[in-house]
Amino acid sequence: ESGSESWKIGMSQCNLGEPWRVQMNADIKAAADEAAKIEVVFKDAQNDTLKQQAQMEEFISAGVDLIIISPKEAAPLTPVVSQACNQGIPVIVLDRRILGDNYTCFIGADNRKIGKAAGEWIVNKLDGQGNIVELKGLMTSTPGQDRHAGFREGINGSEINVIFEADMKWLEPNARKEMESALARFEDIDLVYAHNDPGAHGAYLAAKAAGRANEIMFVGIDGLPQEGQAYVKQGILSASFEYPTGGEEAIKTALKILNGKKVDKEITLDSRFFTPANIDKGGRELEAN
Ligand code: FRU
Repeated sequence: ESGSESWKIGMSQCNLGEPWRVQMNADIKAAADEAAKIEVVFKDAQNDTLKQQAQMEEFISAGVDLIIISPKEAAPLTPVVSQACNQGIPVIVLDRRILGDNYTCFIGADNRKIGKAAGEWIVNKLDGQGNIVELKGLMTSTPGQDRHAGFREGINGSEINVIFEADMKWLEPNARKEMESALARFEDIDLVYAHNDPGAHGAYLAAKAAGRANEIMFVGIDGLPQEGQAYVKQGILSASFEYPTGGEEAIKTALKILNGKKVDKEITLDSRFFTPANIDKGGRELEAN
């Protein structure tokens, strides 16, 4: 009431192995610092679902005022989010979804739309035909599922063949290994569609080591200035689709919830894409569809 007490927010981050997640935490921290009266306690689950469950339970027993979670996987982290909600702690789910609707608010970009836009961009780039390798993000996480489904929709009806697909679980070293297998098996690969930029870069490194980087195009998702956009500028990626971290929106939304205001259950963030042709103009918006 006096306006002097501050809110305590628990932030459960599934891992900090990729630049994108480091950026998400930095965005959260910057927005919280600016808002003042908010203290964010960050926990890193180091890509371990069981650890993330335990850390969520710690936030619940500590009685934090609100939790932000970017869950590693959907199904196994659903019960602990419910548990928090059932005990009256609001939960903002960021980027990867859980199952069902027992949470306060979901914030993220539309991964199905991004995947579809990538598919359509690739059809256009390859004049409707070609051999593609798809390196998928963790398929027990919703962005992996949606980037896959959207992409298949985008290439539907074309003569594009996905000749090799593998789950690289969002990780660059896995993507590199999977790409080595693809290169060993197939002589003719036109393009690699990877569900994130670390994956696209891992595939590029494999192709480069095999002396085949020049004959293959690479497309990724995330589009961070220091990662995907830089790769586009360097000519490593033909396109990178932006996946905003939502860190700032999470803090803005948290403040509304903590101040007793109503928020939308679903907040969808806009995305753009970067290619050598548009990167100097800051990329381009995805077509509305
Ligand atoms: C980072 C990351 C990003 C990807 C997002 C999907 O862990 O793999 O590269 O866009 O998670 O949730």
